[in-house]
Amino acid sequence: MNSPAPDRARNLRARLGGLGFGGDYNPEQWDAATRAEDLHLMNEAGVNLVNLAVFAWARVEPARDAYDFGFFDTVMDDLAAHGITANLATMTASPPPWLAAEHPEILPVTASGGVLSPGGRQHFCPSSPVFRDRAVRLAEAVAAHYRDHPALGVWHVGNEYGIHVAECFCDTSAADFRRWLTDRYGDIDALNDAWSTDFWSQRYTGFDQIAPPRAAPTYPNPSQQLDFKRFSSDALRTCFTLERDALRRITPDVPVTTNFLAGHKSVDVQRWAPEMDLLALDSYPDPHEESAHIGAALSYDVLRGAADGRPWLLTEQAPSAVNWRDRNAGKSPGRMRLWSWQAVAQGADAVMYFQWRQSRGGAEKFHSGMVPHAGAETRVHAEVRELGRELALAPELAGTRLRNEVAIVFDWDNWWALELDSHPSNGVQCLDRVLDHYTPLFEAGVGIDVVHPSADLSPYKLLVLPSHYLLSAEHAARIAAFVAAGGGLLASFFTGIVDEHDRVHMGGYPAPLGDVLGLRVEEFWPAAEGETVALRAADANSPAPAAGSLWREDVKLAGARPELFFAGPDWDDDRPAATVHTHGAGTARYVATRPDPGTMRALVDRALADAGVGAVLPGLPAGVQATLRHGADHDVLVLLNHTEEKHEVSLPAGRLDLLDVRRPAVRHVTLAPRGVAVLGSAGT
Ligand code: GAL
Repeated sequence: MNSPAPDRARNLRARLGGLGFGGDYNPEQWDAATRAEDLHLMNEAGVNLVNLAVFAWARVEPARDAYDFGFFDTVMDDLAAHGITANLATMTASPPPWLAAEHPEILPVTASGGVLSPGGRQHFCPSSPVFRDRAVRLAEAVAAHYRDHPALGVWHVGNEYGIHVAECFCDTSAADFRRWLTDRYGDIDALNDAWSTDFWSQRYTGFDQIAPPRAAPTYPNPSQQLDFKRFSSDALRTCFTLERDALRRITPDVPVTTNFLAGHKSVDVQRWAPEMDLLALDSYPDPHEESAHIGAALSYDVLRGAADGRPWLLTEQAPSAVNWRDRNAGKSPGRMRLWSWQAVAQGADAVMYFQWRQSRGGAEKFHSGMVPHAGAETRVHAEVRELGRELALAPELAGTRLRNEVAIVFDWDNWWALELDSHPSNGVQCLDRVLDHYTPLFEAGVGIDVVHPSADLSPYKLLVLPSHYLLSAEHAARIAAFVAAGGGLLASFFTGIVDEHDRVHMGGYPAPLGDVLGLRVEEFWPAAEGETVALRAADANSPAPAAGSLWREDVKLAGARPELFFAGPDWDDDRPAATVHTHGAGTARYVATRPDPGTMRALVDRALADAGVGAVLPGLPAGVQATLRHGADHDVLVLLNHTEEKHEVSLPAGRLDLLDVRRPAVRHVTLAPRGVAVLGSAGT
């Protein structure tokens, strides 16, 4: 029998004894006096975890194989002496100038053949054997040097893989792509079939003829584009696993992670997750955006779903403003606290920032820091300290998990395929469509998981498919079985259109779900930009609709009952716009347009009611989010007031107020604007 994979994340949890708190620490940018002040301030702020040496390659290996750990030895010793754990980087995020000068072939090449120069960061071709070799050697050297260091708690490999360079089109990448294709398809005819190469005379007679989808006169083959995205994510993942394997050989008990960026399309987090001991996310919601917290909520649920529900680390967020948007809003008082607790509420076991001390020079000098340019006697630093104090009050949150009954089906294959060119409407964008469904669910107050279609669906009562264009026959069959067995389904237009190779499922859309939904779509009629599509209720029991936008289509009923119709006066009058169908023991709903938010909420509420799903805490005021994290014999309710008004909340039973050191039992909570309550079950 195979022994279960070791739970290395538990080792970090045991070390921290509660939630992690800290940030990227870049001591190499500062003098000794500042570093001494840093340690003192970190202790005062309750910092127990730092991301260390993320961009330190040039300093630690100033010339090939000439490792110099002197500086970081002092830093690591100081951290240990101050009780701070290092999420120690393998330092491979940005190759040093000497490496690019000695080996210009490591530099990435764009689709049009341009070479990306050093001078920024992440300038490496993911398939480059030279880069991979130098990175693994460095990771080995770092691991061998710090293997027994008391400050070492977790390994931070690379940094936000793929955020700047996700794909490389050089000859080395081309050869690697061909190897990847040979593994995937075995023989060239299988590839020709998968890629539909009889179209436009693209039939290959050997793998050696295939190149990445470089700049071409017109649309490159879509299946080739899709496979290149899969390959590119895998190539980066190989960079990660090569370093991870080196680390595991030397420090088998230390967990290994890398930090993903929320909302980043190029790296398939779900395919990376099984390779990692724990998942980590960097999250930068825009304070200028009114519903930024909902987009952030989605990204936390995506990450937690990829982690199979396990706790994760918020490795970066901004203490206040970032520097990389056109206009960089600061976080108003209380917002950083609110958004930090939101990550914890949604499963994070650590709250960290980019970065500890705001840089004096370099491209990110106007990015906020936990210690701003103005020093520690500042609003931002005061809020940081206060949050550190608070997080330490609820150690029982660490290791707990959410249990939700609604799952949005999501995967990167669909994200990539849905947004390929030459589609009926370029207005159908994956995260927008997911948010169109996520937002009314979030506002209904239900807990949401976001899962891959191959995930265990048994915990769920309702599945949501928001324009899930690419759906393999196998995954469609799982969803059909889920509904037949009594589950609820809410699916929107442009779902179940193509298979895993981007080839249409024939017989009327969405063929593999036609029986489940009780309908067949003959034609798509996307709306013009800004055009609204009139809707009308099928009868007095239907939701009273306002309008749709973005899409309409010709739905032919085959058992489903219409709830909404397109209302013309155009040629689409009287065609169904929303339907409901009983399939086996379950109920399947279909939405053939993008309804206005009120109508969408009404449809979502019906789907929730059909499936018997209730809010985490019923009766909450709009804009107040509630989540429940469960431990073995306790749970913690977190309430987050995302509004600018005060709200009173009554609890169904008494709970302990964990943010009050005395932990009084309360039945009633007053939430200030942007306020937070963290409430343990009796016995916590
Ligand atoms: C992240 C990155 C950090 C820093 C930060 C600024 O994407 O990992 O190194 O650049 O953004 O917001």
